[in-house]
Amino acid sequence: MHTLGIETSCDETSAAVVSCRKVLSCETLSSLKQHRQYGGIIPEIASRRHLQVIDKVTQSALEAAGINIAQIDLIAVTTKPGLIGSLLVGKSFAAAVSYSADIPLIPINHIQAHLFAPFLNKTKVKLPFIGLVVSGGHTGLYLVSDFDDIKLISKTKDDAAGEALDKVGRLYGLGYPAGPAIDRLYNPGLVDKTLFTINKQADLSFSFSGIKTKAAYIYRDLAEKKRLNKQKRTAILSSFQYTVINSLINNLTQSLKQLKIKRVVLGGGVAANRLLRESLISLSRKESFELLVTDIKYCQDNAAFIGGLGEYLQQRN
Ligand code: KG4
Ligand code: ZN
Repeated sequence: MHTLGIETSCDETSAAVVSCRKVLSCETLSSLKQHRQYGGIIPEIASRRHLQVIDKVTQSALEAAGINIAQIDLIAVTTKPGLIGSLLVGKSFAAAVSYSADIPLIPINHIQAHLFAPFLNKTKVKLPFIGLVVSGGHTGLYLVSDFDDIKLISKTKDDAAGEALDKVGRLYGLGYPAGPAIDRLYNPGLVDKTLFTINKQADLSFSFSGIKTKAAYIYRDLAEKKRLNKQKRTAILSSFQYTVINSLINNLTQSLKQLKIKRVVLGGGVAANRLLRESLISLSRKESFELLVTDIKYCQDNAAFIGGLGEYLQQRN
């Protein structure tokens, strides 16, 4: 079976060919450069760019996989959540190809697909698990009994973790997106564990807007006094990242205890973060659970995990 995945929920236009979870090709073009000057994604720019390149990206994915459209058995497309104009481009394109080439079409939830990413190029899909999705748009814990039986455990009440890292990093001059830049400059020796604190919530929900505001006040104060040097900036951003990651780890630990599940899956753009990956590895040893972390190249939005999940769901039915 060959599945064509299509992903256009944010700024990445991506197409992939997947066969039995094996990724035969995955072509992704991002419009990120065009958004940088605005310090965030501009939906209108993103959707226009998708429209310009989606045909070319899909052709490239088919060519790279060495097959033609007649050999595709299923098309999987992201239908939610995401930027409405961006989603519309992928959905319309996929629907047109599906209709004209007479190929079945399956709608895919982007967040659930992030949880499928660790199973790409693997022989088995392991269930059940607690899924932690951490990205620029979402932060949540899920109980995944199977991919058609997913229950939300908790999510963020305000900002997503990636969004908080991006906004604070940008304020401190790291540009957009700042998540990877904070990851690179992170220095554990400079972390002040008491600088930012997040109150634990009984419902295991996340909240990052309070510490984001505190980081902004610290910035304003230091900038006014002209005391914001490089070392101070690294110390503040390292402490900020530490607190964000610590909050993810704390809530995950609690949910493991409450639900008595012994398997964890990590997905989403922030899953590329070194501190998060290392902290989860230590936690898995301490709490003896199986950890499945998304391969770095599939953390960022891409169509391989959309195609992979589409194929899995289709074969189950
Ligand atoms: O999953 P994704 O590509 O898009 C969404 O669905 O949101 O995630 C993008 C997010 C951005 O906030 C970006 O700053 C963050 O992932 N990110 C990172 C790292 N790489 C990407 N955050 C922290 N450390 C990283 N290494
Ligand atoms: Zn995503």
